Amino acid sequence: MIRLKNEKQINGIRTSCKMLSAMYRELIPLVKPGIQTAEIDHWVRDWVKKAGGKPVFLGYKPKKVPYPAAICISINEEVIHGIPSKRRIREGDLVSLDCGIDLGGFISDQAVSIEAGKVSADIKKINKITNECLYRGIEAAKAGDRLLQISRAVEKHARSNGYGIVEEYCGHGVGLALHEDPHVPNYPHGANPKLNNGMVIAIEPMINMGAGDIEICDDDWTIVTADGKISAHWEHTIAIFAGKTEILTDPLEDLVF
Ligand code: MF3
Ligand code: CO
Repeated sequence: MIRLKNEKQINGIRTSCKMLSAMYRELIPLVKPGIQTAEIDHWVRDWVKKAGGKPVFLGYKPKKVPYPAAICISINEEVIHGIPSKRRIREGDLVSLDCGIDLGGFISDQAVSIEAGKVSADIKKINKITNECLYRGIEAAKAGDRLLQISRAVEKHARSNGYGIVEEYCGHGVGLALHEDPHVPNYPHGANPKLNNGMVIAIEPMINMGAGDIEICDDDWTIVTADGKISAHWEHTIAIFAGKTEILTDPLEDLVF
């Protein structure tokens, strides 16, 4: 069931989204070669606590093992849900960060892929195209249109560049819980509801240099590409309200490209 949000709820979700993007603006410059991913996680926990929010991923338990950190950090062939650890970021890594905040019951979700130091031309390209896929999807998210228009737009841009699309994971409704209906796949598949006023969704293309196939690691969380090739991930939370589409999280491209 899709929960439509009223203006007051959208205002709350927007405030949560702005907080999350403000956190990223401070965090992104710190994500450089040499930093340990666990240090990033501790920094995020502190920041969110000081700001008066709660890291919504920490302890999130859709399966046996609850997610053990405040942020997902997925490097290179890791697609999503990478768990912070002793691992250090290295020059040339593509580092995808994904985080969400619960601010008084209002949930935000945003992801960004960062180039650590100097990266290869291939990495630069997939990162740019994945970011463009996100905005193609957002442009297709119009009140009164159908949801799979978003999926078609994302798929078209990724495939025309020869990339693979992760099919097992997708965007989602968000705002009052981390994962709500509807599913927002990155290729047209499944339910195709109308985009109505009051819908808040996260659009999040996960795009692979090789095939779309993925595997789950032994930690039960980290998703990697089956062929070991690079994957990129960008995400915004958006709202459809009063006939308009608003990106609730702030753009971060100026810090990345
Ligand atoms: N950000 C992810 C998503 O968009 C959710 C991460 S799951 C968690 O769906 F367990 F890490 F929280
Ligand atoms: Co999400």
